[in-house]
Amino acid sequence: MGQDSAKVFRKLLSPIQLGDVTLKNRIIFLAHWTNFGNNHGYQEDGLASERLAMHYIERAKGGAGLVCVTQSVSPGGQMGRTMVHAHDSRNEKVFRFMTEEIHKYGGKVFGQFNHQGHTSCMQRPPFRLLAPTQMPGPHCYVNTKEIELDEMEEIKEYYVKAAVQEKEWGFDGVELKIAHDGLLRTFVSPYLNRRTDQYGGSFENRMRYPIEIIQAIREKVGEGYPIGIRLCMDEFTDWGYSWDYGVRMAIALEEAGVTYINSDSGCFSNYNMEIPNNYIPMSFGVYMAAELKKALHIPVVAFGRINDPVQAEEILADGNADMIGMCRQLICDPETPNKIMEMRLDDIRHCMACSEGCGLVTTQEGVVCVQNPAAGREKRLGIGTLEPAEIKKKILVAGAGIAGMKTAEILAKRGHDVKVFEKNEEVGGQMLLAERIPYRAEMSEVYRYLRVQLQEMEVPVYTGCELTEEKIEELNPDIVIAATGSKPLMPDIESGDVTLLNPREAMEHVEKVGEKVVLIDEVGYWQAMGVADYIGSVGAEVTIVTKEYYPGKDIEETCQEILYKRLLKNGGKALVKSRLKAVTGSTVVLENVVTHEESRIENVDTLIIAGQSSSDNELYKQIKSKGDREAYVVGDAAAPGTVLRIIFEAEELARRL
Ligand SMILES: Cc1cc2nc3c(=O)[nH]c(=O)nc-3n(C[C@H](O)[C@H](O)[C@H](O)COP(=O)(O)OP(=O)(O)OC[C@H]3O[C@@H](n4cnc5c(N)ncnc54)[C@H](O)[C@@H]3O)c2cc1C
Ligand SMILES: Cc1cc2nc3c(=O)[nH]c(=O)nc-3n(C[C@H](O)[C@H](O)[C@H](O)COP(=O)(O)O)c2cc1C
Ligand code: SF4
Repeated sequence: MGQDSAKVFRKLLSPIQLGDVTLKNRIIFLAHWTNFGNNHGYQEDGLASERLAMHYIERAKGGAGLVCVTQSVSPGGQMGRTMVHAHDSRNEKVFRFMTEEIHKYGGKVFGQFNHQGHTSCMQRPPFRLLAPTQMPGPHCYVNTKEIELDEMEEIKEYYVKAAVQEKEWGFDGVELKIAHDGLLRTFVSPYLNRRTDQYGGSFENRMRYPIEIIQAIREKVGEGYPIGIRLCMDEFTDWGYSWDYGVRMAIALEEAGVTYINSDSGCFSNYNMEIPNNYIPMSFGVYMAAELKKALHIPVVAFGRINDPVQAEEILADGNADMIGMCRQLICDPETPNKIMEMRLDDIRHCMACSEGCGLVTTQEGVVCVQNPAAGREKRLGIGTLEPAEIKKKILVAGAGIAGMKTAEILAKRGHDVKVFEKNEEVGGQMLLAERIPYRAEMSEVYRYLRVQLQEMEVPVYTGCELTEEKIEELNPDIVIAATGSKPLMPDIESGDVTLLNPREAMEHVEKVGEKVVLIDEVGYWQAMGVADYIGSVGAEVTIVTKEYYPGKDIEETCQEILYKRLLKNGGKALVKSRLKAVTGSTVVLENVVTHEESRIENVDTLIIAGQSSSDNELYKQIKSKGDREAYVVGDAAAPGTVLRIIFEAEELARRL
């Protein structure tokens, strides 16, 4: 550890004791469901995979003090078919490998156990959902089975079996989830638990089942073995409990002998208080940890949009928590702890809370990250896998959007001689527009991080400088990378008295946008809903029109919901199942795509068409057709897309050359 970092991050980098276990620092890789449990069909799901092990090992390699591994605790209790089972003894080999590797890096590893209860399986489940009381979770329409006493006993035994066998396999502790989803929270929640037996009705009765499980585990694992709780402090709904009840539960859990409390919030009815997006402030959950600190004697973990070491140190130094939980930050940059220790603070790639990669778990996909192509592909692309180029080449990159910058970063790290040309005065490409959308300023992190990497390696980036065929002839590189982006396509329509704009023009020249706006959403993405939000927030009255059942169809679901609310709050409207038919004078004529009925919006000032873009790949075609040097195309210039795909393909291309 560098002398400076030990002083600056005095608390964050100091060890802490959890029962018999010492963590080397206060940074915890929070539990998260990865979908990396092998899926061999309904009969063989829940098996731990090498991919799962590598994902967690990577974070220990990156310096995290503790890694928490999400697992389901009994058959039928998983979130999705690829959630790994804690109780399945066939997982021994992979888990022994994982715990040994994590220990080699000085990290500790806890299994997080959950029976998903009324949230088992995201889609309509192939098995029964269990809950204390028969009622669908307020987030869905699937009804539950009221759990019977013998079923409760059986599940408790699974918890104990899992804890005991994982202790043998090298896990250093266990964390039980009474958090935003799962059976145990439904027991403690006054709204969801309506039982009239000894497990419902009073506070003590609602706490009884989790406490019985804790005690049964404690009996088998011994006094010093850490048993932590991931505790939902506030359900953040109009029907649910709030943080004062959370504190009351934590006091009861401390009395029951748990080792630490890891704070958490939200539930499936309020997903963005569980996995907070850009609209939720940084460190939003710290006040809940602070309340726990006042009430408890055991260590407390703070969580929620903590992605920066200074922010983390402040939370600890102010006495608001004892440990810092980071989930997405370590998905995005597993080396964050090591970079803090080495005081390489500018090198930290901050999570943008976009959930556009990691959030794909809700569609049964494995965890990935828009900024970190190695997330979920740790074995092939993770720490230490970048090989120096066998033959160092002279490479020119046209375009300093994210595609060009990412390609340049990896090429330069491999030792190539790289120069980047950007015809604009600034780097960033379209992300310079994306970051202007209200609450989306953090999107700039994609290019901020890349710019720092290029600066540190002294890669020349010539701004205000177009790369042309002539310049390429003059500089005579071995390879040209065309990362020249895309141009919005506009339909050939008569626009009457209405000002016709594409989304990029609207973002760049908001002064051209009039008061009454119709925006046609043909992309289902930020170029439509995000632009509507931007112009709505500066006073335009926007009607967004889509052929789909709702606008912004491809936007991550928590953001989609907030954008829709903001649209309505700003006086906007959404017209669904509709398309643009014509413009006459200042009237926009629309047509319902099902009934073909026409509707009209009169006195329109501006029509924005958020349609497809077309790749700007002229330069690439010129170089390729000449055939005298290698040329590659990447990013929007190859096919207009999103950051997730573009960063990944830039990394793959640059590793190949
Ligand atoms: C309003 C808006 C919001 C968006 N929001 C999101 C989002 O939330 N999430 C997401 O994933 N995606 C989003 N996108 C899409 C995303 O921004 C793009 O897919 C991505 O930025 C494309 O990157 P790129 O590097 O391929 O192209 P660009 O960003 O277009 O960069 C190409 C660069 O090349 C330069 N250039 C072109 N020709 C030359 C030349 N001959 N010489 C030198 N320079 C040249 C251009 O000036 C430009 O800077 C959004 C797009 C917009 C417009
Ligand atoms: C993909 C994903 C899956 C998650 N699954 C779990 C889980 O299984 N258990 C849990 O306690 N929290 C889970 N969480 C919540 C995180 O642990 C964390 O509380 C949340 O992401 C906010 O912290 P962050 O801003 O550091 O990401 C998940 C989060 C993500 C992004
Ligand atoms: S996909 Fe977005 S939210 Fe998820 S880890 Fe990456 S940057 Fe963070």
